[in-house]
Amino acid sequence: MTAPDDLDEIITAYLGREGPLLPLLHAVQARFGCITPESQIRIAAALNLSQAEVYGVVSFYHDFMETKDSRPAIALCRAEACQARGVEAVAAAALAACADRVRLETVYCLGLCSVGPAARVGDTLYARLDAVNIRNLVSTL
Ligand code: FES
Repeated sequence: MTAPDDLDEIITAYLGREGPLLPLLHAVQARFGCITPESQIRIAAALNLSQAEVYGVVSFYHDFMETKDSRPAIALCRAEACQARGVEAVAAAALAACADRVRLETVYCLGLCSVGPAARVGDTLYARLDAVNIRNLVSTL
């Protein structure tokens, strides 16, 4: 018998809860920075789900990654209101400023439509972005 590791502890913490898959996956993603195929197999077995069900959830949501990417991420809203407020110019400025140092992700609406373009870094929201302040934001990461 192998000693329990962090993954076993996380799985155990969510067993018996109603609808455990999503919160468990969020906990694994937060702890390890990714949800590897091996982890998915163990999660599926523990929750009595098929591997396809777990993989389907992991691959559907952009918050989950199968391999670790430790670069800081900027989640830039590219939905309609932010499109109308010039997010594509902000995205181009961000890409030019960050090269490969920062991961630029696309999300669809952060609830800041009237003050877009908007972005999220971790739990912090940014509004009224333009080419200048997105470059400043990238330089702080
Ligand atoms: S459309 Fe960008 S925050 Fe809502």
